[in-house]
Amino acid sequence: MARAPVIIGISGASGAPIAVRVLEAAHAAGTPVALVISGGARAVLREESGLEPAALERFAQTVYADDDLAAPIASGSRASSGMAIVPCSSNTAAKVALGLADTLITRAAHVHLKERRKLVLVPRETPLSPILLEHLTRLAQLGVVVLPPEPAYYLHPKSVEAITDYLAGKVLDQLEVPHHLYTGWKAPER
Ligand SMILES: Cc1cc2nc3c(=O)[nH]c(=O)nc-3n(C[C@H](O)[C@H](O)[C@H](O)COP(=O)(O)O)c2cc1C
Repeated sequence: MARAPVIIGISGASGAPIAVRVLEAAHAAGTPVALVISGGARAVLREESGLEPAALERFAQTVYADDDLAAPIASGSRASSGMAIVPCSSNTAAKVALGLADTLITRAAHVHLKERRKLVLVPRETPLSPILLEHLTRLAQLGVVVLPPEPAYYLHPKSVEAITDYLAGKVLDQLEVPHHLYTGWKAPER
């Protein structure tokens, strides 16, 4: 049977290039993606990647507007293979932690919580405020994978692109999407 789509929500935190790599690699792996881009993310995507949101649509099987609360993925009756919000703004993390669901991204995240499906958030903010830490702690306690976009310096990345690939690969690992974005740690010969 064909795999149900993974849902990728892009919100307006810094880190849009990570989302772009996630989409490209999922597409290359033949994984169907349902894509939602928030209003905030549109501005950040243009700023950080120089891309128009429409340029990402070719990597997705379906694309929904963030205000389309009647979209199939707003309901638990629509199967999915998990969801990632990458990057995840403090605004979106707060809404998900509090059960607010006034956008399609936050509604679909709420569906993943209530249906006990895989939900991955990539929060990007520095420093982290006590409020955001409280929200992320609550989400982690609910089973959400909180995956901050932190580089692995022990892999000696040679470029920002290598760091971005690593982070995108970590998201795809959680969604069980195969990829070749990074090679894991190999201990030196002793
Ligand atoms: C260039 C730019 C970078 C931003 N970076 C962040 C960020 O790293 N983290 C964050 O939480 N918000 C960031 N914001 C603010 C969010 O975009 C803003 O709070 C927005 O309302 C989030 O909406 P959304 O959660 O619906 O995407 C950034 C905004 C801009 C324009």
